[in-house]
Amino acid sequence: MSSGQRDAGVSNPAHVAIIMDGNGRWAQMRGLPRQEGHRRGLEALRRTVRNASDLGIAVLTLYSFSTENWRRPHAEVSFLMGLLKHFVEKDLAELSAANVQVRIIGSRLDLAPDLRRLVEHAETRTRGNTGLILAIAFNYGSRDEIVRAARQLAADAAAGRIDPAAIDDAALTARLDTHDLPDPELVIRTSGETRISNFLLWQAAYAEFVFTPVMWPDFDRAAFEDALAQYRQRERRFGGVAAPPDRSVDVA
Ligand code: IPE
Ligand code: IPE
Ligand code: MG
Repeated sequence: MSSGQRDAGVSNPAHVAIIMDGNGRWAQMRGLPRQEGHRRGLEALRRTVRNASDLGIAVLTLYSFSTENWRRPHAEVSFLMGLLKHFVEKDLAELSAANVQVRIIGSRLDLAPDLRRLVEHAETRTRGNTGLILAIAFNYGSRDEIVRAARQLAADAAAGRIDPAAIDDAALTARLDTHDLPDPELVIRTSGETRISNFLLWQAAYAEFVFTPVMWPDFDRAAFEDALAQYRQRERRFGGVAAPPDRSVDVA
């Protein structure tokens, strides 16, 4: 790379996390019920999983239901629960055949027992797969996740399993739902909203963010590739300074 050039040759991120937003507005703009937006949103999810595999992404995390989404009308909440169930039941065989490893992050305690069994089954069935890791954030809230991790640390400390003075970044990371996943390098949010809405607060400490006006049901290969291209243009510093120009050629 020539002196002073931006890190334009950087490769795609290994872990992409997406806040899939705008289903309701997509429907509203067309005079359709919000549910239709969610249905079309599921199509976009399927498409995005295929594209992520194709593009060589290692981990794809999709925010599909937040701990705050329980505030929505009961009918919408049950529709979204049903949609997850439908997705797992209908797509599991295909995902497994495509070598996808499914994970669900978030709290399982408030899920109906049948839904909980279903997500556990999806994880067990795809555990041995070696392709894309698909982490679905369902009943997920980052504060809730951190609180659960803190509770575990407190219990471990009280039981003498960990010295409070030894609690560090790694000790907390190890107790998060994402403990065995790398941090996302790129977080995409659709629908034009520019907030994080309680998603991966800890893990996204140094992520790059791409906000696109595209509504989630319209998120396609071109929109995905555009976000990746924006990521590749970013200069990541991690608190340091820009990489010095490579002078090895000049001084040789
Ligand atoms: C995203 O779309 C799906 C979920 C949050 C479950 P929304 O339902 O939030 O759509 P808008 O933001 O109302 O358009
Ligand atoms: C974030 O979207 C949650 C998901 C995409 C699952 P919301 O639509 O719930 O977020 P807010 O309410 O606009 O912040
Ligand atoms: Mg929304």
